[in-house]
Amino acid sequence: MGLSRFSGKRIVIGITGSIAAFKVAGWVSTLTKEGADVSVVMTESACRFVAPLTFSALSGKAVVTDMFTAEETHCISHIELGQGADLLLIAPATANTIAKLAHGLADDILSTTVLAADCPVLIAPAMNSRMYENPLTQKNITILQEQGYTVIDPEYGTMACKTEGPGRLAKWDDVQEELLQVLSTQDLAGEKLLITAGPTREALDPARFLSNRSSGKMGYALARTARRRGAEVHLVSGPSCERVPSGVKITRIETAEEMYNVVTASCHDCSVIIKAAAVSDFRPETTASEKVKKENAECVLRLEQTDDILKMLGRHKEDKQYLLVGFAAESCALREAGRKKLETKNLDLIAINDISNSNTGFESETNQVILCDRKGFTELPLTSKEQTADLILDRIVQLLEPLSFEIPSCK
Ligand SMILES: Cc1cc2nc3c(=O)[nH]c(=O)nc-3n(C[C@H](O)[C@H](O)[C@H](O)COP(=O)(O)O)c2cc1C
Repeated sequence: MGLSRFSGKRIVIGITGSIAAFKVAGWVSTLTKEGADVSVVMTESACRFVAPLTFSALSGKAVVTDMFTAEETHCISHIELGQGADLLLIAPATANTIAKLAHGLADDILSTTVLAADCPVLIAPAMNSRMYENPLTQKNITILQEQGYTVIDPEYGTMACKTEGPGRLAKWDDVQEELLQVLSTQDLAGEKLLITAGPTREALDPARFLSNRSSGKMGYALARTARRRGAEVHLVSGPSCERVPSGVKITRIETAEEMYNVVTASCHDCSVIIKAAAVSDFRPETTASEKVKKENAECVLRLEQTDDILKMLGRHKEDKQYLLVGFAAESCALREAGRKKLETKNLDLIAINDISNSNTGFESETNQVILCDRKGFTELPLTSKEQTADLILDRIVQLLEPLSFEIPSCK
């Protein structure tokens, strides 16, 4: 199940004279392995930090470093590289290159390539924090943004020069998200999605709780891919080790009651709600304020039901005008159970998970779901949770057009 998100994409990477240039070697390697056609352009200063040979070995292509040599050897023209490319990324981008680009200078192969490019341009600055915070650099960055270039904010941290502040080259995970967003169809632009993810925890005492095996991976994959496709995403998450996708608003909760309250307060202005969280159906009737000692334990747990968030959302769906999507974690009679949940909770779409397999459902990196809507069932392939998320979103995009009210048949 290879990742093919960059497969066939023509990506030009411009590297400038920053100490962070070595980090981009790993990025070139990853993109090339994922099937992208990567061309690297380096400024003269960049070549002082990392040898072009490193990038030509990783990309499998000659690195362009000089405008005149490239023309003389008929290798490539100074205007050709950025034309017809899917995107152009400058990383790391020095204060010098940012200033040059902001003022339309074209005195080397990278600046001429950018000026002549007809594709989206992304810029990842990296520099000492005083250089970054200097009003001149900030003004130049604003000029580039106004020009339509995407500037990927640098991180806060300790620099190679030992100063602390903003200016460290953004992390690959964040840069990758920006690249994927530029390459994705923006078919969810203008939509507001509320996505819930992860488990809830119901405390027994200060040390113990009732929970379940949900990792949050599916909900986070949905949040990540929806954001890539242009949606405004609010993720309400129970405890999870997953990384919060950049550009996604996150509210962290612990109990089913907290999730109920956040969802109730946030559902009003959403166009789509996806309930991928595994919310606890029960909680202890009482929570001990001190840790229960082994000797004193009654060994009997009295439970009460938590409020059903999905049912509440289903009840208010018509007046609030959102599309409601649920998940059903089942171990037998999947289709019947899914269809019943769709009907009783008044959902528009349900993703039915077989949790009896180790490579689907809880904790696994992959998933295989059956989608059920008012028209019937669609079986999705066994694939990564990210690709499953994209396929679920494809269906949501179709449903956002006119809704269908046919009752599904159970084949
Ligand atoms: C050791 C060293 C590290 C440098 N790191 C950076 C940096 O991270 N960011 C930056 O903007 N300039 C940095 N510079 C300065 C640039 O290399 C210099 O401004 C150069 O002219 C940039 O040229 P270019 O934009 O054409 O690549 C560094 C210089 C040295 C000597």
